[in-house]
Amino acid sequence: MAGIKIDGKEIAQSVKDRVKEAVKVLNEQNINPCLATILVGDNPASATYVRNKHKACEEVGIVTKDHKLSSNITQTELNALVDSLNKDSSVHGILVQLPLPDQLNEFVTTSRISPLKDVDGLTPYNIGLLSMKKSALIACTPSGIMEMFDFHNIDLKGKNVVLINRSNLVGKPLYHLLLERDATVINCHSKTKNLQELCQMADIIITAVGDRNKFTLTPDMIKEGSIVIDVAILRHEDKLVGDSDYDKIIQKASYATPVPGGVGPMTVAMLLKNTITAASLNTQIGKQY
Ligand code: GUN
Repeated sequence: MAGIKIDGKEIAQSVKDRVKEAVKVLNEQNINPCLATILVGDNPASATYVRNKHKACEEVGIVTKDHKLSSNITQTELNALVDSLNKDSSVHGILVQLPLPDQLNEFVTTSRISPLKDVDGLTPYNIGLLSMKKSALIACTPSGIMEMFDFHNIDLKGKNVVLINRSNLVGKPLYHLLLERDATVINCHSKTKNLQELCQMADIIITAVGDRNKFTLTPDMIKEGSIVIDVAILRHEDKLVGDSDYDKIIQKASYATPVPGGVGPMTVAMLLKNTITAASLNTQIGKQY
């Protein structure tokens, strides 16, 4: 029997509905939640992602400030913009779209964002808090995946999770979130041995490789009734797909996410949620001083 689709569009809408209500409450206190985005260069995929983020903000009543910078900007110029947004009390969240052009350093840039405005959860401060179960602003894709588990009341306690990604945006924050819920997490990567065997033992597989030449998750690699969360999105044989073919995987899995329409919409929804959290954090702190 085929498993249950984890519908990212439906779950993202439920998050957006809650965010919309929170925006109204903040507006009543004269707080207008505002997200500033910084897009450097003309990477078409990044431009589309940023456009989608602005559109989603508009839908729920979050104000946006759009900073588009030329691809040859210097680190000093980018730092100056981040500094000015850190100081601007009308801005509650700052997002620097990644990747950045080669002359710019992602760590230097994201570390410069005020932790209270760090809606990507990428500053060392927020990553440190996450590892200590104290974070308020968590990277959007990982927290979106946790929201999907919660929507379907999937209990993670004692589950064996194979996580195939170790990036700062996805794998590392997810590792901590899963561990917090008492899952046993094996964090795999390009050098992992026996990946196929590990997948076959897993109760839950979360995969974010994004290159079918390197890795494809096929039904023979999963256990009957396991849960598959596919974070990747890539073009393959003229179709948008993930690391797995949803139609095949869902025949064997108990739950799986489609691509598109799975994790992707959750990332945007959680950015909106983080912006509301940041607006509350910034204005509370502001009132204390
Ligand atoms: N590039 C791809 N995904 C993301 C994301 O979640 N945040 C940022 N800032 N850049 C990205």
